[in-house]
Amino acid sequence: MQKVIAIDGPSGSGKSTMAKNLAKELNILYIDTGAMYRALAYFASLKDIPFQEGESLTRYLNDLTIEYGNEDALIRLDGEDLSQKIREHQVSALASQFSQLPSVRKFLIGFQRDLGQKTICVMEGRDISTVVFPEAFCKIFVTASAEVRAKRRLSQLVETGKDEGISFEQVLKDVEERDRLDIEREVSPLKVAEDAVVVDTSDLSPADVLKRLIEISQEKAKGHNLSL
Ligand code: DC
Repeated sequence: MQKVIAIDGPSGSGKSTMAKNLAKELNILYIDTGAMYRALAYFASLKDIPFQEGESLTRYLNDLTIEYGNEDALIRLDGEDLSQKIREHQVSALASQFSQLPSVRKFLIGFQRDLGQKTICVMEGRDISTVVFPEAFCKIFVTASAEVRAKRRLSQLVETGKDEGISFEQVLKDVEERDRLDIEREVSPLKVAEDAVVVDTSDLSPADVLKRLIEISQEKAKGHNLSL
């Protein structure tokens, strides 16, 4: 059994905010693995590393120093804080492509396992309950319809001034395309673990989702004699 609350789900399902709130509520570490894929992809694009397997990619990964910290400086690569930059819209597409590469996944899965083994935590991503921590004591799959997710994503972009005039139709298309890539990729595709609890957030308020996640986590912890 691994002392990890593994939360997976498609982009825009609300899982990041919810996972962060859950960790805060339980006073345990929050680990956002999507931020890692985003940072690696963005940094690789800055350095003109081709998005394909090969010598350049291997060298890039071998030479990279990655640090995961608190909320203010979530992710640093080679000492550079990329926490803000990785939230820009175009980085989503880069991360989606970069995360298809087996050596990138191998690199980050190793990093995530090291990080998650140190202390009880909430770890959130696409393959946490299926690949990274398949023995996690608590597995939750957070989802919502594509339309609801696109609407949320657009509001988020507008609120942060990062929408660049993008239309709802375009955001929906991007959401569907990212779903397709996440589900169809050969390595670590997005899927519901057999023993995961599914939470559909389409018609739930953020407060209700959080309440549900706390209930599930505490129930699972009890079943494993863990105190949360
Ligand atoms: O959750 P997010 O949107 O920040 O994730 C960014 C990208 O990284 C997304 O395309 C899916 C990918 N990802 C992944 O493949 N595996 C993870 N564990 C987390 C994210």
